[in-house]
Amino acid sequence: MGVEKFGPVRVGLLGVGTVGGGSFDVLARNQAEITRRVGRRIEITRIADLDTERAERVAAGRAQVTGDAYEVVRDPQIDIVIELVGGYRIAKDLVLAAIDNGKHVVTANKALLAVHGNEIFEAAQRKGVMVAFEAAVAGGIPIVKAVREGLSANRIEWVAGIINGTTNFILSEMRDKGMSFDAALAEAQRLGYAEADPTFDIEGVDAAHKATILASLAFGIPVSFDKCYVEGITRLQAEDIRYAEQLGYRIKLLGITRRRDEPGGPRGVELRVHPTLIPAARLIANVEGAMNAVWVRGDAVGDTMYYGKGAGAEPTASAVVADLVDVARMLTADPDNRVPHLAFQTESLAADLPILPIEDVHTAYYLRLRVADEPGVLADITRILADARISIDAVLQREPARGEAETDIVLLTHRTIEKQANAAIARIEALPSVLTKVTRIRLEDLD
Ligand code: HSE
Repeated sequence: MGVEKFGPVRVGLLGVGTVGGGSFDVLARNQAEITRRVGRRIEITRIADLDTERAERVAAGRAQVTGDAYEVVRDPQIDIVIELVGGYRIAKDLVLAAIDNGKHVVTANKALLAVHGNEIFEAAQRKGVMVAFEAAVAGGIPIVKAVREGLSANRIEWVAGIINGTTNFILSEMRDKGMSFDAALAEAQRLGYAEADPTFDIEGVDAAHKATILASLAFGIPVSFDKCYVEGITRLQAEDIRYAEQLGYRIKLLGITRRRDEPGGPRGVELRVHPTLIPAARLIANVEGAMNAVWVRGDAVGDTMYYGKGAGAEPTASAVVADLVDVARMLTADPDNRVPHLAFQTESLAADLPILPIEDVHTAYYLRLRVADEPGVLADITRILADARISIDAVLQREPARGEAETDIVLLTHRTIEKQANAAIARIEALPSVLTKVTRIRLEDLD
């Protein structure tokens, strides 16, 4: 082909499950277009997978198959290694071995980068190789590129995203069909959205891995997964979704990272994943099913939102193959002048911009209280909130069900500092007329 200025780039693929198979197919199907984009062919010439029969089926004679990933990682013919093994331990050893052997790496492994990213990027920097990871955050949505390159003129203020499709599907089912959490989870598993062990999804860990990476890209800080506040959706009750709806809100599992530097307040970065009330009119509140969306605010651009599939064979392959294209284009660029892994020059990663503890987070709240239906209850509660200087935005109280002497009170508050909310909630829970622990869900207007 006339556009080919160089010989082919040779790629070794580690792990040929859903995304690996998808990447092989997308690259083969769009080979001509991709070659026109890059100026040279990108060829997956080797595949490693413990299941060599599966690998042979995918390769169909077009790539050499092995059961030993280290053979590929050490192969002098290979320029780029795609790591789709997943998990922390074996994947980390393979990625570090690939880097050590001078290979560029493309990975979809958010857990690996959120936990060991600093070590991996440092090793890559030392060796002058690239580690590309578009597929690690929100699957097919090019959010890494958007934050790292498209928005590089901006001082980013915050990023808020629906970055786990499984939990968004569950929450959509609970709201649309009035399903319980357990029934919605079973449906997600039946449709293949949730893993057989869905813990990382429903406990918010997968979203926290992605939010951690986004925080580093947005604010130029080292990856700090251990400082991310993580709360999943397993304790959400169907009635909270209903009450939120009556008040004009939807509940979404958001990954939020926000710069904080208001005068007199703490200076740092909020990094948190938790169920969040969002006004129903916001675009992001209407992202349904297994779709992902990431909302980014920059000081120059204002609000931007990115929407698409966060998982699945070809959507994720779209990101993996785009990374191959990026790496292939950059192979001839001086390593010191490539796009930095975490958007900012390594030596400028801001260790002085700490992740703030959850107690310092500034947010509003939905509070649901189970109370005895007797005089003065609401007055006692509002007095405690007033003493804590927490302003109430809305109140919803249901009539007690027939024959019952207790009911729910739902309050929406204005923003406050979390430790003040904690103290007020503890005082409210100590009231004799408050019958159970207070249900607290954070609320973000995103305005
Ligand atoms: N399990 C993830 C999700 C997809 O449900 O969004 C891969 O990150």
